[in-house]
Amino acid sequence: MEFKKNILGIGAGYVGAPSMVMIASKCPDYKVTVVDINPQRIAAWNSEELPVYEPGLEEIVRKTRGKNLFFSTDVEEEIRKSDIIFVCVNTPTKTFGAGAGMAADLQYWEKTARQILENSPSSKIVVEKSTLPIKTAQAMERILSSGKGDITFDVLSNPEFMAEGTAVNDLEYPDRVLIGSRETPRGLAARRQLVDIYARWVPSEKIITSNIWSAELSKLVANAFLAQRVSSVNSISALCEKADADISEVAYAVGMDSRIGAKFLKAGIGFGGSCFKKDILNLVYLCRFYGLPEVADYWESVVRINEYQQDRFIANVLQSMFNTLAGKKICVLGFAFKADTGDTRESPAIYITRKLLAEHAEVVISDPKALSNAALDLADEKGTIRYVEDPYKAAAGCHALAVMTDWELYRRLDYRKIYESMVKPAFIFDGRNILDHRQCFDIGFNVFPIGKPALTRF
Ligand code: NAD
Ligand code: UGA
Repeated sequence: MEFKKNILGIGAGYVGAPSMVMIASKCPDYKVTVVDINPQRIAAWNSEELPVYEPGLEEIVRKTRGKNLFFSTDVEEEIRKSDIIFVCVNTPTKTFGAGAGMAADLQYWEKTARQILENSPSSKIVVEKSTLPIKTAQAMERILSSGKGDITFDVLSNPEFMAEGTAVNDLEYPDRVLIGSRETPRGLAARRQLVDIYARWVPSEKIITSNIWSAELSKLVANAFLAQRVSSVNSISALCEKADADISEVAYAVGMDSRIGAKFLKAGIGFGGSCFKKDILNLVYLCRFYGLPEVADYWESVVRINEYQQDRFIANVLQSMFNTLAGKKICVLGFAFKADTGDTRESPAIYITRKLLAEHAEVVISDPKALSNAALDLADEKGTIRYVEDPYKAAAGCHALAVMTDWELYRRLDYRKIYESMVKPAFIFDGRNILDHRQCFDIGFNVFPIGKPALTRF
C-alpha cells in the first residue's frame, strides 16, 4: 500500500510508543514507525508481551501492527524515509557535571538531533515530544541548520500530557493538544501539518497553538502545578494528623470550590513517576539560571515536601511498631508508582522499602504488574526481600501491611482472611488511603492512614 506520509517516532518508551500507536490507529493512510536503540524493547513491541503495561494499548497494537504501524531498530534508515519525526527519547535528570541532580540530561536528545541531520536526504518536520528545558528547540534548530545544502528542518514543540495507567484514554480524548512553532510563514506551515494530524480525532477547539517557547515551558509548568497540588494536600495531611482533622474531608470540602477543583488532592506517600521530580528540578534549575532564586526556592519546596511525606511515613511505621522493625516482616502492597502501570520509576515504594531494610525488617513485596521492575530497583540491596504476586501469600506471616500503590484490587481483598494469617498485633499502614479503615480496625488491625486519626488498640 502507498502511504500518504511517513511518520517516525524516535524512542519506543512509555510516551513514544503509545503516542505513535494512537496516531497509527487514527491515520490508517500514514505509515507510522517507532524506532529505538534498545533492541530488546523493539523485540518486545514486536512480540505478544508488550514492554509497557497500559490498559487498552495491546488491543490497538494488535489492530495496527504490521498494517501501518512498525517497530524497528534501524534508526538511520527510518530517519531517511520519514516526513515528520517525533523525538520521544528520555530526558532524565543529569547525574554528572554542571547542573548534576537538577538540569535535564540532553545527551540522548542531542544524539538524535545529529542523527537526523546526518541521515536526511530531504526536508523534514522535527517535533519535540520529550519534555525539554525552554529554548531546547533553538539548540535543535542550530544543530539541524549546521548542514549544507537546501534541506530544511522545521522544529515544533508538541509536549505530551498523557499520564501512565490512563495513556490510551488521555491520548484518544486529550484535554488539549499543544503545538508550538516559530511564527514565521514556514513555522506556521509546519504547525498546520501537525494540526492536521491531530484534527483526525481531536476536536479543533482542543488543539491549541502557541509560540515555541511557551509550548516548551507549558509542559514543565503543567507538571509542576500538578505535583504542587499533591504536595499541598500532603503538607496539610501532616497537620490533620496533629489536629484530629481528616484530610479526605478537608480535601473534599476544599475541592468542591469550582475555582480549586477536586482532582489531584489525594493525600498519600507522595508522588512518584519518572517526570514530576525531574521536571520540577529542571524548572528550578532554569529559574536559578535566569537569576530567579526566589522562584526556584518556591518550586523546589514541592519536591522537599514530597521527601518529607515519605520520611514521615517511615517514622510513623517505626514509632507505631514499638521503635524496632528488626526481624519483623513487612508486606509492601504495591510497588508501581501508581495503579494500572508496571512502571516503578521514582516510586515512593523504592525509598520506603530501602528504609525498612535499613531497619533490618524483612520485606515481602507484592504487585500485580511491577515485580520484575521492583527486583531490578532493589538488586543492590543486601537485606531479606521476597517477591510474591499473590497478596494473600505475601501477607501471611507478616507483622504489618504497607499499602504503597492504589491498585483497585487492594480495596477488594478479604482483610479478615489476611488478618488471620498475620502475626499479632497486626498493623496496616495505608499509604494511599484506599482501604475501609473502620472495617479493618473492627477485624482487629491497628490502622494508620495518612492525614487521619489512627485507629489503634494501644
Ligand atoms: P523511556 O525511557 O520509557 O523511553 C525513552 C526511549 O528512548 C528508551 O527506550 C531509549 O532506549 C530510547 N532512546 C534514547 N536515545 C535514543 C536514540 N538516540 N535513538 C533511539 N532511541 C533512543 O522514557 P519515557 O517515559 O517514554 O519519556 C520520554 C520523554 O517523554 C521524557 O522527556 C519524558 O519527560 C516525557 N514524558 C513522559 C511521560 C510519561 O508518562 N512517561 C509523559 C509525558 C512526557
Ligand atoms: C504525570 C502527569 O499527570 C501527566 O499529565 C504528564 O504527562 C506526565 O506526568 C509526564 O510528564 O510524565 P504520571 O506521572 O504518569 O503523569 O501520573 P499521575 O497520575 O500524574 O501521578 C503522579 C504521581 O502522583 C503518582 O505517584 C500518583 O500516585 C501521585 N498522586 C496523584 C497523588 O499522590 N495524589 C493525587 O491526587 C494524584
